[in-house]
Parts: sequence; C-alpha cells; structure tokens
Amino acid sequence: MNNPALLNEQHYINRILLGDSFEILSSFPDDCVDLIFADPPYNLQLNQALWRPNNTKVDAVNDAWDQFDSFAAYDDFTRAWLLAVRRVMKPTATIWVSGTYHNIFRVGSIMQDVGFWILNTVTWFKPNAMPNFRGTRLKNDVEFVIWAKYDERSRYTFHHHLVKQFNDFSAGKQLGSVWHIGATSRAERLKDDAGNKLHSTQKPEELLKRIIVASSNPGDVVLDPFVGSGTTAAVAKQLHRRWIGIEREPRYVAAARERVEQTQPLLPNDPLIAGATREKPKRVPFKLLIEQAYLTVGQTLYLDKPEHEATIIENGQIRANGFVGSIHRVGAQLKQTPSCNGWKHWYFVDDDGQRRQLDDLRNAVRATTKR
Ligand SMILES: C[S@@+](CC[C@H](N)C(=O)[O-])C[C@H]1O[C@@H](n2cnc3c(N)ncnc32)[C@H](O)[C@@H]1O
Repeated sequence: MNNPALLNEQHYINRILLGDSFEILSSFPDDCVDLIFADPPYNLQLNQALWRPNNTKVDAVNDAWDQFDSFAAYDDFTRAWLLAVRRVMKPTATIWVSGTYHNIFRVGSIMQDVGFWILNTVTWFKPNAMPNFRGTRLKNDVEFVIWAKYDERSRYTFHHHLVKQFNDFSAGKQLGSVWHIGATSRAERLKDDAGNKLHSTQKPEELLKRIIVASSNPGDVVLDPFVGSGTTAAVAKQLHRRWIGIEREPRYVAAARERVEQTQPLLPNDPLIAGATREKPKRVPFKLLIEQAYLTVGQTLYLDKPEHEATIIENGQIRANGFVGSIHRVGAQLKQTPSCNGWKHWYFVDDDGQRRQLDDLRNAVRATTKR
C-alpha cells in the first residue's frame, strides 16, 4: 500500500472530494475502484479569442486548468495521473479517458506505456457541434474516448447485450464504437449565479450512461479524478453504482455536490439495473457430463459441418482425425476456423436414436445444479 495514513471507505465512497487528485489519490488503498472515467484537461492550446461571424465571442475552453507550458509538461502530468489511478484500480477494472485531437494521441500512447491494454476507442460524434467559423479547417464535431483494461491479461466487465440498446445506427444490434450523442443540452447544463455556463466542458449524461452501463455492475465503485460539474457521479448514482469524484475548483465541487444530492436513482426494476444484475449462466465443464453419466468414455460425437465423428476419451477430451483436445479445440481444427463453440457444433445420439446438440446436455446439467 502506498500511504500509511489510508482513508476509510466512508471518507471517499459516495463523495465529491475537494482537492488535488494526486494528493487525494495517494491516501487511497490499492485496488479499491471498479471503473474509472477521466476527462482530464485537454491542453487545447487556445492562444486567441474565437469570434463568430456576427462578432459575438465564442465561449471556448480557455480556463487556467487547461493550460500547460509545453507538450512535455502535459505528458508528465498525464503519466503521473494515469499511474496514480492505475494503483487504485482493481485488476478487473477498466478505464475510459476522453479527449480531443489536441491530446488523445498523447494520452493513448502514455496509457500503453504505463501498462494499460486498449480495448476500443469510441468516436463521439456531436451532430450539433459548433462550426469552424473561419472556414480554415473541418468542423470539429468529434471527441474520443479510449477504453482500456488494466493489462493485457486482465479480465473485465462488459455488458455486451445490455448496450445493444445504445446502437444509434441499427437498433438492437451489436454496439459499435461511433456514438451519436448531442453536445450537452441547455436543459442539462449547470449555470452559475449570473446564468452563464458553470463549466466549459460539462459532458452529456448520455455519454456517461453508456460507459457505466457497459463496463460496471450495480454496487461497483466508479472514480472520476477530474469530476468537474459532477456528471460521472450523478450518472453513477442514477445507475445504482457508488462514486468518488475529485475536483480542485471549489465552485465546481459545490455545484457537483448539489447536483448529486438532487439526483434520483432509477427504480430497481429498470432494465438498465435489472439487466446488469441478471446472473450469468453457470459454467459447465464438458468433463462433468461424463462424471454425471450423461455421456460415456468411448461414445461417438458428430460434428455438423464438415461432417466428422469423434470419440470421447479420458479427461473430458475427444479424439478425431488425429486431433486430441477439448470439444472446442478439436471442432476448430476440423472446421479450420480460429474458434468453435463445441457445445453448439457437436451432436450425440440419445436413447431414442435422435441426434441432439451437446448444448441440450449442458442445459440439463444447469437445470439440475440450480440453487
Ligand atoms: C475537462 S474538465 C472535466 C469536466 C467533467 N467531465 C464534467 O462533466 O463536468 C477537467 C476538470 O479537472 C479539474 N482538474 C484539473 N487538474 C486537476 C487536479 N490535479 N486535481 C483535481 N482536479 C483537477 C479542472 O478543474 C476541471 O474541472
């Protein structure tokens, strides 16, 4: 563990903490977070004010928190915070980092350098993005979110079926990595006392909803080390996750705390909550079918295409055409494909002489071992 004066959970869970992320994170124990969303300063390099054709000034990101002296200084900052959050991540956690063309390539490369393993890069397309008023380059209507796991070998949460509902192009089909989400709406934007935008880079809740639903479970701890106006914490609360937000600007902290306070969690039977808590089907090793006398050593199995016969041997393996191994491995070798779900492609002959899929036996085992 990093720091002898470690905080207890009650000091940081379900809280928006005021202060510098580096300092605050150093007081956390190792491995205490299930998911991270980070929207770090972008280093936008805006040296001049931006004006619209009608001579009104564009409300761009030129805050002090976004200024760095050089790319090297930005890289040092990036490496330091990535290492700090990696220490508090459980090895099963994943991290999403958002950015623009100004910083995302530097961030992605440093993520790989410190050991993260990139899973996807989401391109967030904003149909209502501001034009490039001077017409000197393309309209900047995308942002990026890199999704990575702890390292190459780590396992992680991904609700593949649950996120199909977010497919903007082909309803109900596998979700791709281009997301169509409007920039934060007026209704969602927090305002300061003068009625102006409170935070220049407040993220839309829809973006966080997709991220949190995709890669965490109810009850998980979601950390945002640059929480700004509190978007991540508010959406985590809606989705029955626990949250930790860190922000060093007191006015953002005050607004974020109030926002989270006013946020209501979804009903427990909401599909976004109930769908994530549904139990995964129990894993059944092929060997168990032999141990429970559903199949016997020496029995013949039949592959669907191309047609082949295999013999069940000891240790839950099969032999066919000189190949020996699991039903999946031998199936893949005979089909000459990278993988094969043996449960779906191998058949056995039942007591009535009918050919039936091995998966029927797996389901029978599951039904009898249900608690
Ligand atoms: C891009 S904004 C995040 C906006 C946020 N996603 C939202 O929806 O409101 C980055 C935030 O990080 C904060 N910040 C920058 N450096 C920090 C640090 N070292 N510790 C804590 N907060 C920091 C800034 O004050 C700023 O509010």
